[in-house]
Amino acid sequence: MGTNPVLIGPSILSADFRRLGEQIAEVESAGADFIHVDIMDGVFVPNISIGFPVVEAVQAATTLPIDVHLMIVEPGRWIDRFAAAGADTITVHVEVDPHLYRTLRAIEEAGAIPSVTLNPGTPVIMLEPVLPIVRQVLIMSVNPGFGGQTFIPAALERIRRVRAMLDEVNPTCRLEVDGGIKISNAAKVIAAGADTLVTGSAVYAPDTHIASAMRALRTEIGNVSRQ
Ligand code: DX5
Ligand code: ZN
Repeated sequence: MGTNPVLIGPSILSADFRRLGEQIAEVESAGADFIHVDIMDGVFVPNISIGFPVVEAVQAATTLPIDVHLMIVEPGRWIDRFAAAGADTITVHVEVDPHLYRTLRAIEEAGAIPSVTLNPGTPVIMLEPVLPIVRQVLIMSVNPGFGGQTFIPAALERIRRVRAMLDEVNPTCRLEVDGGIKISNAAKVIAAGADTLVTGSAVYAPDTHIASAMRALRTEIGNVSRQ
């Protein structure tokens, strides 16, 4: 059973980068718990997003924790740089790292929270060896690379399975979900065992009122009975 309080972290991937500081301030005053930052290298995923200077800018713009999601090959090379740029949590993909223990320990040693993730098509058993040494697991509910994609329903069963695995070996570990989170599925994701939601286009899409979208999400998950 997950007992952690539920956290919501907007992903700036869908924000208006012309006015990133304001967009961060808006979610912060609307009650965001953290800021999710997506780093893409054009190799592991078919898109290129942002790098160290933007993480530094986010850190300068907010007091909220910064949750850095590395969608890059050879993540172990860059841990110290991301930690120095302001990352409070660093997530690495199992698919790109043959030295997961080393990388996750390096994240801890750099003073950040070690977090591990995997694509929707990767068997969850790949997580098993490192579950005792992480403090967050991220279940991807879209194929990483782009904001605004549709939630893959099979993610719900994966959340349940990983929550059960964590309850055995690391019950206080956070279980985060990223991709296609909307008002329509947030409650199901929490009921399945997640305690940390990333939300990009649901709060940052053009014409969306950020504070209302955040409030609606919070209300939606407020009444969920957690298994
Ligand atoms: C996808 C990214 C997500 C993305 C989420 O590769 O990891 O963090 O920004 O955006 P939405 O909520 O629009 O799916
Ligand atoms: Zn992400």
